[in-house]
Amino acid sequence: QLSRINIAIDGPAGAGKSTVARLAAKALHYIYVDTGAMYRAVTLKALEAGIASDDEWNVGLFAQKLDIVLLPGEDGQRVLVNGEDVTSRLRSLEINRNVSYVARSEGVRSRMAELQRLMAQDKGVVMDGRDIGTHVLPGAELKVFLTASPRERAQRRFLELDPASGISLDQLEREIEERDRLDREREIAPLVQAADANLLDSTGMSIEQVAEQIVRWAVAAASTNSAEEK
Ligand code: CDP
Ligand code: CDP
Repeated sequence: QLSRINIAIDGPAGAGKSTVARLAAKALHYIYVDTGAMYRAVTLKALEAGIASDDEWNVGLFAQKLDIVLLPGEDGQRVLVNGEDVTSRLRSLEINRNVSYVARSEGVRSRMAELQRLMAQDKGVVMDGRDIGTHVLPGAELKVFLTASPRERAQRRFLELDPASGISLDQLEREIEERDRLDREREIAPLVQAADANLLDSTGMSIEQVAEQIVRWAVAAASTNSAEEK
């Protein structure tokens, strides 16, 4: 019997983190936690409440009042904020453009990290985000830093878009690079590869290939962990 471990998957936008984290969690019978969805949910509610996304102090205070629950659903994970299902509203261009400002707030980050650590306390979690291996779960038994070239990441995201959105591939690539820059340059828990993370460049790789590599690493990490526990 392999012991259950925690798996942290970090990397820039469009690298495939949520897609492969979900598949790996399914294969391992683990729980999948999409932390980006939590920052997106705070952004949605803050904008709704009329708080500017770059008002770090007020957005941080506001986040303390939010209870965010992630539920496994039929077509993926559902996100509830104080009981309200906001899942279908989290992936708009407006949220894409504001979320990295909200994510700079110390109050927001500490609240999210607190909720995320609670979700991972019993192990058996695959958590994806930007600061999971470095900050939220520094003790995760497997850490993966997933990347792909900026062009390929933009192309992957472009294919997901509603043609009516009117945004071009070049524009989308610029917006993704700007969000990555904000995430890398922020002061608190920036996007950076953890020293003990496995780097996986998925440029040219299929979703299945990436997920299989992560599952192989997970099985190896869980065996090492079980051996150490004996
Ligand atoms: O799916 P995509 O990679 O486009 O983004 P996401 O994972 O949904 O994350 C949206 C934004 O939330 C990121 O650009 C970060 O600004 C923020 N985020 C963060 O700061 N820390 C995390 N652990 C996860 C997301
Ligand atoms: O969560 P993150 O922003 O890192 O990326 P994602 O939302 O999981 O993946 C972005 C898109 O790339 C999805 O539509 C995936 O189906 C696709 N993808 C891909 O085409 N090839 C891969 N190796 C991984 C993801």
